[in-house]
Amino acid sequence: MQLSDTDVIIDYFHSASPEFLNTLGIDPSRLPERARWKAIFERLFALPIEERNFFAIVWELDGKLAGWSSADKIVFGQEAYMHLHILEPERRQSGNGTFFVKESAKIYFDTLRIARLFCEPYALNVAPNRTLQAAGFKYVKTHETVPGPLNFHQPVTRWMLERGAI
Ligand SMILES: CC(C)(COP(=O)(O)OP(=O)(O)OC[C@H]1O[C@@H](n2cnc3c(N)ncnc32)[C@H](O)[C@@H]1OP(=O)(O)O)[C@@H](O)C(=O)NCCC(=O)NCCS
Repeated sequence: MQLSDTDVIIDYFHSASPEFLNTLGIDPSRLPERARWKAIFERLFALPIEERNFFAIVWELDGKLAGWSSADKIVFGQEAYMHLHILEPERRQSGNGTFFVKESAKIYFDTLRIARLFCEPYALNVAPNRTLQAAGFKYVKTHETVPGPLNFHQPVTRWMLERGAI
């Protein structure tokens, strides 16, 4: 993902309904205002990947951006946490997510030189939990936490993929 693509992330969350954000475990009041969010991305993309706590991959279908995966909580050379989103509802639930997650994992292992890749979706959001399992992630545990700066306190499911497992 290039800096210019990050508008897609900002638009996706800012144009989402409160109900959809709730399924993601996101508190709408915690979304950074658009210009401030862009400034955060500008600062992140100015850093080399080794020093950034953000690295993202664009997912394309028919040559057009159809979704993305991002990684944060990155300990370069050790581990990172990933996220997964397909933009249009009609492009979900037909195998795209499983394929993209597997391909993204390979890129994270190579680029971030990590040994373990985690994902910790909201436990009540079925889609990512099923997709991670389908992509080969192993269940670690379910616990309650505030998993990220946009989230409310919630039960999350921790999934893990080890280097070499796919
Ligand atoms: C999460 C997401 C990227 C998965 O991509 P996808 O293309 O829908 O996933 P797939 O079609 O590869 O489905 C993988 C598995 O999940 C299941 N699944 C996907 N969406 C589902 C849903 N809404 N309800 C129940 N099961 C679902 C599929 O049936 C499939 O199960 P199987 O392995 O038993 O066959 C996509 O659904 C999405 O963008 N959802 C909205 C955003 C979101 O929730 N992101 C996660 C934030 S943590």
